[in-house]
Formats: sequence, structure tokens, C-alpha cells
Amino acid sequence: MEFPFDINHLFPERFSILDQTLVAGRKTAGMPHLQANIETVIDELGRASAKAQQLPASITSASKLQSQKHQLYLLKDVESNGGRGVVVGFLKVGYKKLFLLDRQGSHVEAEPLCILDFYIAENLQRYGYGRELFDFMLQHKKLKPVLMAYDRPSPKFLSFLAKHYCLTPSVPQANNFVVFEGFFVNISVAQLRKVPLRKPDGEIKPYSLMEREVVHQEQRARPWPFAPPHSPQRSVSSQCSPSLSGGSSPSRPRPQAAQVPALGRSREQSPQSPLLERCRERRSSSLNRSHQGLH
Ligand code: COA
Repeated sequence: MEFPFDINHLFPERFSILDQTLVAGRKTAGMPHLQANIETVIDELGRASAKAQQLPASITSASKLQSQKHQLYLLKDVESNGGRGVVVGFLKVGYKKLFLLDRQGSHVEAEPLCILDFYIAENLQRYGYGRELFDFMLQHKKLKPVLMAYDRPSPKFLSFLAKHYCLTPSVPQANNFVVFEGFFVNISVAQLRKVPLRKPDGEIKPYSLMEREVVHQEQRARPWPFAPPHSPQRSVSSQCSPSLSGGSSPSRPRPQAAQVPALGRSREQSPQSPLLERCRERRSSSLNRSHQGLH
């Protein structure tokens, strides 16, 4: 994702971690024009992510990040765009108090780290950048993916989790969050609290008020994952390949990291879109050529 300013100047490191302060490095602190550029980047990424997930509104923006205790991991590519760098994607995490259902159907209160938003620029997907960013976050948080909760993961993301981290199948929940087999086994007792089915002031609502809930109100009648049509869980069959340490995607030759500008980007590509299929065909034929030494 290109911007009309120098990304390398704004984000000195390949990975940046942004929080409420929106400060990416010492250089940007107290520099209003650089802060404004950081806000532009976050807003643009949030818009692109919402579009890719067909959300009616962004769940990530600079103002939201400033008002919530979330962290945003940002990955850039240093060399692209004539040495000015491009933004490859982002991952947003935060702790949420959730009422979850364990395998026995008991309500359990937990406050896990949640994946709240995740986006890699359209033209850079399936080249291993998502894995790189996710691994960086895991290292930084010293966490395993099974110990986290996932806010309404998209089919692409479910496929990603199955492929790279063997996370499948999930334990059905009554809210939009997904936790995987092993969550209740591995998370320490201290982090889980069994809650009675009825509180003195009424029944427990296993719904947590989340950003996604707001933008998905139209789907609340039958909350995912119980809605049968297009159930994302079906797309994560048994394609787990953790032993490949990154699977097939990261071994693909990466393209120049930005041919698509941030503004006026191309139409969103669904996994089934003909455009994506054509890109894939082109990519596999160029891969074949390079395997045969033909460039
Ligand atoms: N269709 C199906 N699966 C896809 C996919 C697509 N278009 N793009 C990525 N994946 C999954 C697959 O498992 C893929 O492995 P494969 O190519 O061998 O099938 C794997 O992710 C590739 O891993 P990697 O290259 O590290 O992931 P990535 O850089 O493409 O990043 C996402 C993964 C999900 C962040 C990225 O695809 C994305 O931004 N998607 C759009 C936004 C989104 O759905 N975000 C999730 C928010 S809940």
C-alpha cells in the first residue's frame, strides 16, 4: 500500500507497534505532521480491511485506536516505492472479557488476548506476509495462537489459522468470537472462571459488545458460527501443515511490495473471484517458469 509520503521515515522498523499514543518511533513523537500521516495510514488500512471483509464500516481507525487499549502491529516493506517503503498490512489485538462456552457447554469467563482485525494488502496476500506479522505478534506477546480468541474470523483467516497453526475445529460459541480446541485445556485456571448460569440480576448474556457486533447487526439474528449458509468453518477442512513452517505461501516469490496505491484501490477480491483466479493462474505459471529457470 503506497502513500504520498515516506513510509520509511514514518516507521523506522520493519515492524511497528502502535497503541493509544499513535507514536511509531522517537522521530514521530511531538511532530504533528508525522502524527497526521500515521493517522492517515491507520485510517486507510482500516478502510481497506473493512472492504476486504465486506464490513459496512471500519473497525480500525486512528481515533478508535486512540480511545481503546488495543495494539496495532504494522508491517512495512522497506525497498518498494523507490525506497520510500510501502505498508504491507496490520494486525490489531486487545484483551476482551468474554463469556465463552467450553466443550461441556458451561459458561466460562475469560479475558484472553483477541485478534480484532487483520489485513494484508490485496496484491500481497498469500506470499507469507500474514504469517510473518502474526509470528512477530506471537513472539512479542509470548503467546500461542490456541490461547487467543478470534473476533469473527473471515474464511481466509480461518484457512490461514488451519494451515499455519493447525487451529481447527473450533469450540462453538454463542457470540462472534472463535476459540479453538485446546483453548480451555491450555489456558491457565487463573485466567478462566466458571460462571453460574444465572446471576442475581438476570441471565448471563454471552454476547460482548464489540465493534464487529455493531457493524454486523444485520446478522445478529443467527450469530455465527450457527448460521448454516456459508459457514466459514467448512472452509478449514484438514489442510494443516505446520511442519512446513509457513506452508506453501511463504515460499512463493514475493512481488514488489506495492503496485496498488492506498487510495482508489481495486475491487475487493473474494476467494472465488475470477480476478483472483486469474492472478493465481498467472502466479503459478510464473512460478513454473521460474522453477524451470525461465524468467
Ligand atoms: N483464500 C483462501 N485462503 C487464503 C487466502 C485467500 N484469498 N489468502 C490467504 N489465505 C490463507 C490460506 O490458508 C493461505 O495458504 P495457501 O495459499 O497455501 O492456501 C494462507 O492464508 C497464506 O498465508 P500467508 O501468505 O501468510 O497469509 P496472507 O499474507 O495472505 O494473510 C490474511 C492472511 C487473512 C491476513 C489475508 O488473506 C487478508 O488480509 N485477507 C483479507 C482480510 C481478512 O479476511 N482478514 C481477516 C480478518 S478476520
